[in-house]
Amino acid sequence: MRIAVGSDHAGFVLKSELVVFLEAAGHAVLDKGTRLKERCDYPDYAAAVCAAVVSDEADWGLLVCGTGVGMAMCANKVAGVRAAVVSDAFSARATRLHNDANVLCLGERVVGGGLAVQILTAWLDAEFEGGRHQARINKMMALEA
Ligand code: RB5
Repeated sequence: MRIAVGSDHAGFVLKSELVVFLEAAGHAVLDKGTRLKERCDYPDYAAAVCAAVVSDEADWGLLVCGTGVGMAMCANKVAGVRAAVVSDAFSARATRLHNDANVLCLGERVVGGGLAVQILTAWLDAEFEGGRHQARINKMMALEA
């Protein structure tokens, strides 16, 4: 898969670990920054990753900040994005099965590297179930109008 990734300074270490994991797993990673540990603004990186997802430059997006919350708030303001911030693998899987999430948000100050890999793996391995969930996604996306 083509996965666009981004973080602010507070998510930089975890994002860097997850880039290594994703590349080792054979995914094509598009790193949209930050590339430095200097303090920066998470909306800038949420915007860059979400632009890649909605333009089909990437299949999925992964965003990391301190909590994942600011990234998710920003990402969900971009038309076409369904972003979820989670801190457990069960919820991560459910965001794909039921919510067709196309952007995953994680908090470096919330989850450790091992759990983050479990979450990311559960998210990438799950497929949207469609069916009754598609009708709900249609209603969700209509809220953008
Ligand atoms: C940065 O200090 C922090 O506010 C940011 O990474 C994020 O957690 C915001 O939601």
